[in-house]
Amino acid sequence: MMDWTDRHDRVFLRLLSKNMLLYTEMITSKALKFGDSKKLLAHSPREHPVALQIGGSEPHEMAYAAQLGEDAGYQELNINVGCPSSRVQSGMFGACLMREPHTVAECFHAMQKVVNIPVTIKCRIGVDENDDLESLVTFIDTVASAGCSTFIIHARKAILSGLSPKENREIPPLNYERVYEVKRHFPQLHIIINGGIKDPKSALSMLEKVDGIMVGREAYQNPYILSAIDRLYYGKEQKPLSRFDVLDEYSNYIQQQLAQGVALQHMTRHILGLFKGEIGGKVFRRFLSENTHNKNSGSEIILNAKKIVMNAQKKSALHS
Ligand SMILES: Cc1cc2nc3c(=O)[nH]c(=O)nc-3n(C[C@H](O)[C@H](O)[C@H](O)COP(=O)(O)O)c2cc1C
Repeated sequence: MMDWTDRHDRVFLRLLSKNMLLYTEMITSKALKFGDSKKLLAHSPREHPVALQIGGSEPHEMAYAAQLGEDAGYQELNINVGCPSSRVQSGMFGACLMREPHTVAECFHAMQKVVNIPVTIKCRIGVDENDDLESLVTFIDTVASAGCSTFIIHARKAILSGLSPKENREIPPLNYERVYEVKRHFPQLHIIINGGIKDPKSALSMLEKVDGIMVGREAYQNPYILSAIDRLYYGKEQKPLSRFDVLDEYSNYIQQQLAQGVALQHMTRHILGLFKGEIGGKVFRRFLSENTHNKNSGSEIILNAKKIVMNAQKKSALHS
């Protein structure tokens, strides 16, 4: 997710589940071709497995970007066919490509030809008036015919004029049934459902109808829900790290990164929701928000925030 799942966030999220697949923010093929690709692709093996999401519609450029992504060590490449922003539309990629299945198939083909890691697609259930099952089936069929076997489907259509990207994640209604229909239609494909999923535990039953689940906003805003994933989805019995253990680990990471010149707030901003819904969650958030920008603050800010939560929890236990 743009501006959210950067490399620091992915290091943090990886502390919560060893097995889930993480995704980068979308990076355009043009940025990779003409920009500082080394910087754009920089990440740490401790984030793995990670999919690199690429936005674009020019097959040669997409193939070039794919090669860079594989060389940089990513485990999967994902083509963005879901972003509705006007900037993306004017570049002729993102959700508007749902109307151009042959272009997507060509991009897929050009990319998969030059890499050994899987290339996958993230799309919507439709765009504007093209929101019937038949159009979606035609899109999937065309891209699958080029060899693509994994589709992550955001169970909402995109409305390309009049709605902001944020509204396009809220206003068009969720239609999970449409995604299930796609899976029934293409049982051989790997279909992953996305949109509005808040809790991995209650979403588990979706796996009777599709092959995987992608969680976006809730994973960022309430990240500790991810700590149940290794047990629920991967059958691993090892106990997840507690929220406090996660803080200790992330604080070590922050210390290393500060030494390399990374600004503190680029790392602390991702953990504000760690105690969401818990006693002390609000003071944790407030403390970090108010103190991160202080130029004297360092990684000890995390340990101080941890103490504040512990004290709030002790106080609450005494009163109950
Ligand atoms: C801030 C933000 C940035 C996003 N950026 C991307 C992106 O770069 N690529 C993408 O495929 N989806 C992006 N999305 C959409 C999410 O991946 C997801 O499809 C959408 O939020 C619905 O899932 P959710 O209800 O679990 O959040 C973004 C969402 C948010 C909130």
